[in-house]
Amino acid sequence: MKSLVIGGSAGLGRQLAGRLAERGDELVLVASDTRDLEPVAADLRARHGISVTTIVQDLGGPDAATLKMRIVEAAGVPDYVFYVAGLGHLDDTGNLPQTDIDRLIDVNFRSALSLLNAFFPDMEQGAIRTVVCVGSVASARGRGSNMVYAAAKCGLTFYAEALRHRLAASSCCVQTYLVGFMDTTMLDGRAPKLPPVAPEEIARRIVRNLDRDIGAVYVPAWWLLATTILRLLPWWIFKRVNL
Ligand SMILES: NC(=O)c1ccc[n+]([C@@H]2O[C@H](COP(=O)([O-])OP(=O)(O)OC[C@H]3O[C@@H](n4cnc5c(N)ncnc54)[C@H](OP(=O)(O)O)[C@@H]3O)[C@@H](O)[C@H]2O)c1
Repeated sequence: MKSLVIGGSAGLGRQLAGRLAERGDELVLVASDTRDLEPVAADLRARHGISVTTIVQDLGGPDAATLKMRIVEAAGVPDYVFYVAGLGHLDDTGNLPQTDIDRLIDVNFRSALSLLNAFFPDMEQGAIRTVVCVGSVASARGRGSNMVYAAAKCGLTFYAEALRHRLAASSCCVQTYLVGFMDTTMLDGRAPKLPPVAPEEIARRIVRNLDRDIGAVYVPAWWLLATTILRLLPWWIFKRVNL
């Protein structure tokens, strides 16, 4: 099998690449910084004897739609597509400069849609078996922190459901993982308000669930209850919540 991991050089994407390599998948890893990407790829080749193609691409750039061409030229159409890349911003509280807003929207939303749109014919024909998107529990309800990030993730989750609906008659599964706090560099040294989960745990779950029509799932599962309660809170209580 051939797996494409967008954002495969760190955190959840790196763990996912490791779990896929363990089962012998050929890998295509995409990230913006070659300094992380190349050592990760070299390690996977050495430990698992698999083929790993690396593509350096900034998903915040204007040419993300051409990424499919680069991937297919380098390694052909993948069996599995994982859009794991994501980006947060410490000051995402309502007054970001336009360049930062654009970047958050590009990495978390626009580039994902461009890429999935480009691969749509391969999904429809069943050449791609599963598409995995990574959302966030931050998009459960609008709060005064992570404002652009959460809005972009909300859009991605919505689009993934639309894609699942569009592909319901095909053999391609579209899955979304709504992830809670994870112990990665994305937390940027901030102490999470709830216990974080190890990314390898989530990566194992994602690999176990491949080829299953599961739709959107929360990881860990208790976030389903937590976000349901959050959505049901009346405004006068919700406005005091500081998560
Ligand atoms: N960590 C959490 O607490 C948490 C919570 C909820 C949801 N999530 C979501 O889970 C996913 C994985 O997060 P993580 O914590 O594993 O993140 P991470 O450790 O920061 O890794 C992010 C990955 O995305 C790549 N990436 C970021 N910006 C990019 C860009 N402009 N162009 C190309 N690649 C880019 C990074 O590579 P380069 O740096 O080389 O570009 C890296 O491989 C994300 O979608 C995130 O939004 C995370």
